[in-house]
Amino acid sequence: MKTNSSTENHALRVKAQPIGIFETPIAYGELKDADEVMKELEVAIRKRKTTSTGLSRSNIGGWHSDTDMLDWGGQPAQKLAQTAINIAKRMSHFQDSSVADREWLVRMWANVTPAGGLNHLHSHPGNLWAAVLYIDMGYETEQESRNAGGSFYLEDPRFPMTAMRDTAFRMRGADGEPQQYQTEIQLQRGNLIVFPAWLRHGVRLYTGNRERISVAMNIDAVRKDVGR
Ligand SMILES: [Fe+2]
Repeated sequence: MKTNSSTENHALRVKAQPIGIFETPIAYGELKDADEVMKELEVAIRKRKTTSTGLSRSNIGGWHSDTDMLDWGGQPAQKLAQTAINIAKRMSHFQDSSVADREWLVRMWANVTPAGGLNHLHSHPGNLWAAVLYIDMGYETEQESRNAGGSFYLEDPRFPMTAMRDTAFRMRGADGEPQQYQTEIQLQRGNLIVFPAWLRHGVRLYTGNRERISVAMNIDAVRKDVGR
């Protein structure tokens, strides 16, 4: 229907309430009483880095360990995996079985990123959930964090569709605000974030002074009677 300002003047009155559907659940929060665990994880990561060249994935300029950190990260890595699984379980439902009837599997790795490092936009195919724990942001103060970059960001999975007609177009959400194609989440040391593995995400260029350290996880759940 073609409208112009004169027809708008004759529009019918309607009380239309926006609703949000097809939610994308993302959970993040600060680990409690985890200082000791994070220190132990850092020691294990730094030790591993001296003996392993690591992998090349979405990381540019940083060290990405092998994905077998549960084998060399000790008890702290096991604890972290269980914590992430518990969050993933709360956000999961299966039509054919209960969450408890699934075998929950985690692959874990560490990232050590110096200045100049970043992670390209990517997803984690073949998993239900992805998770990241930040152990060292590479800066101490709020002021430093503003200058150091390195923000974690998520991409709206509908982005290609909404941009198809007009890249300047933004849909307003149920809160009335324009929904942007990318959302940055300001994470701090001790923050654990769990999100759908298919949701594309990345880390912007980091320019701080010290290395930053994070631990990432792929989380999957398989039916026990079917096996892997
Ligand atoms: Fe990732």
